[in-house]
Amino acid sequence: MKRTIKDLVNLKGKVVLLRVDFNVPMDNAGRILDKTRINQAIPTIKYLKEKGAKVVVMTHLGRPEGYEIRKSLWQISLILMQSLSGNVYFCNSVIGDDAKNRIKSMNEGDVLLLENLRFYEGETKCDMKFAKEIASLGDVYVNDAFGVAHRKHASTYGVARILPNAIGLLVEKEVKELTDAMTKPKRPFVAVVGGLKVPGKIKVLKTLLDACDVLLIGGAMAYTFLVAQGTIVGQSIVYDKCVLEAQSILKYAQSSGKKIVLPVDHVAVHAEDKKKKKFVTDKLIEDMVGYDIGPKTIDLFINEIQKAGQIVWNGPLGMYEEEAFQKGTNKVAKAIAMSPAYSIVGGGDSISAIKKSGFANKINFLSTGGGAMLEFIEKGSLPCIDIIQEKIR
Ligand code: ADP
Ligand code: 3PG
Ligand code: MG
Repeated sequence: MKRTIKDLVNLKGKVVLLRVDFNVPMDNAGRILDKTRINQAIPTIKYLKEKGAKVVVMTHLGRPEGYEIRKSLWQISLILMQSLSGNVYFCNSVIGDDAKNRIKSMNEGDVLLLENLRFYEGETKCDMKFAKEIASLGDVYVNDAFGVAHRKHASTYGVARILPNAIGLLVEKEVKELTDAMTKPKRPFVAVVGGLKVPGKIKVLKTLLDACDVLLIGGAMAYTFLVAQGTIVGQSIVYDKCVLEAQSILKYAQSSGKKIVLPVDHVAVHAEDKKKKKFVTDKLIEDMVGYDIGPKTIDLFINEIQKAGQIVWNGPLGMYEEEAFQKGTNKVAKAIAMSPAYSIVGGGDSISAIKKSGFANKINFLSTGGGAMLEFIEKGSLPCIDIIQEKIR
């Protein structure tokens, strides 16, 4: 059992470095589409405040290459100010004198949000020099960033190697819910995978196949699999480097008697069409780009979902941010919500999509992890949770 914040004593006056995952989905204009990941970390922040800690909150947002104004966390600091009582400050750096001075002037119960960790190249490289600089800012490290606990980065892994540490309330809850669900899954266990982060997620699909009975693949993920089985997909997004892996997963499914369902039709546009007029097609040829699963695929997916005992879903089935390409995601969301099966939906965009569809309250468990949730299901743990100290008995 990992040490949790409830095991930390004497937090009064201590600087707690709290890693959260506020990587919230945003539209093209930089507006936040869903605040679930922020709301889910609030109980941990409140707990630490109540214990008299000085709470220094750290997160990444998106995958910026260097500084990008749209990926600055200032607008997230405004949300934190609304969600918390007391002082909430924002610092437009992570390390250095400014951050140090701001922390020095904090009072017990104050909250300080640091700037986007990924503005520093040391973060994703897990550069220990960067991790040490972060660690030097605080007394204790708390990881409540379940959504990024599969990434060994400086703030998720490196700092934990240096400071006394614990997991937060959200990580504790995620671990419990997902472990319970995976210990004795109700059958048939149907997994639905979509979204865009193919290179990260494809790695876990073999083990997911071991656990589940049926795997439905939609979203941008599907085109890599369609190419792997020899189907042309026009100009839809394909991750060439993942095609071999997709082939091997398709073979593995065949040999292990597991069912994979891929889209048989699509909602598409012509890449050259400036008006982006959508149409339904069975075949994606020439300059066609698939942005959603088509009606026949929706029926195939719903048919499997209706027979399920347990459903795990990660990754929108189309470009759900645009109304024109929401139908597949919405219909599948409704089917999962209406099904008596035990349902888990995970991922920043997937949660946003299911909330948008209006069915979120019918889902048994909403996980803040996308890739992290899939990897947790695969391995039963995650590296950035493993590195946290064990509870002292
Ligand atoms: P999650 O955050 O739930 O883990 P991802 O981040 O992997 O999911 O993927 C979400 C993104 O996938 C969304 O921005 C959505 O627009 C995109 N997406 C899904 N299907 C398609 C598609 N067919 N073409 C382009 N983008 C897609
Ligand atoms: C997520 O949204 O899945 C997490 O915040 C991790 O983001 P990443 O895939 O950019 O590391
Ligand atoms: Mg996402």
